[in-house]
Amino acid sequence: MSNPIVFQCSHRAQGNSNNAMNLFLEGVREAGGEADTVLLRKVEIKPCRACRVCEKDPASPCALQGKDYALDLFENMLNAPFVFFAAPIYFYHLPSRLKTFIDRSQWVYARKMKNDPEVAERPVRPAYMTLFAGRSEGDKLFEGARLTMKYFLQSFNLELQDPMEFRGFEKIADMERHPEAAERIRALGKQAWQTHAG
Ligand SMILES: Cc1cc2nc3c(=O)[nH]c(=O)nc-3n(C[C@H](O)[C@H](O)[C@H](O)COP(=O)(O)O)c2cc1C
Repeated sequence: MSNPIVFQCSHRAQGNSNNAMNLFLEGVREAGGEADTVLLRKVEIKPCRACRVCEKDPASPCALQGKDYALDLFENMLNAPFVFFAAPIYFYHLPSRLKTFIDRSQWVYARKMKNDPEVAERPVRPAYMTLFAGRSEGDKLFEGARLTMKYFLQSFNLELQDPMEFRGFEKIADMERHPEAAERIRALGKQAWQTHAG
């Protein structure tokens, strides 16, 4: 199996999701492990064209294969012992770059539906997530993000664990006011490596 993958999905460089990525990595390294990182804001991902080629013939490649990095990242996700996503909430949902990436996984979904063994027979593995929202209120603040991530990851046989959801995180340095949150994320990285890769 290859390395775990850590996705930083915020559109800003130095923020809460970036801190979460670093803390999770610290935990992995503390356990003696290593992980690959993906800064989604720096990766070119084209939007799904809804051409339906993958649904008509799952053996055929995605029409956008070779035109960006989406399929390479999906291949890595299929082989990783676990994955971690750090993302902010934008308009009660996931940021658009992450959603664009997710839409492209229709190709993986189609292959799984046709029982392509390269997808359908991947072992079930865990996916971890932190979500940051500026607001401190709103019952359904994280609901859309959680549902979308659950079903996106299912195509890869990745099982979304209960995301760590943080409210009232707005400013870039908000993690400094919450050392307990930082410690939870670090511990999550450590435990993920010890349990699923070490
Ligand atoms: C385009 C945009 C939309 C946002 N929408 C929401 C929202 O619906 N609810 C909320 O609580 N915070 C919202 N926020 C605030 C972010 O969730 C908050 O600043 C978060 O800490 C950003 O995470 P980051 O530091 O990882 O970039 C929004 C921020 C941006 C830039």
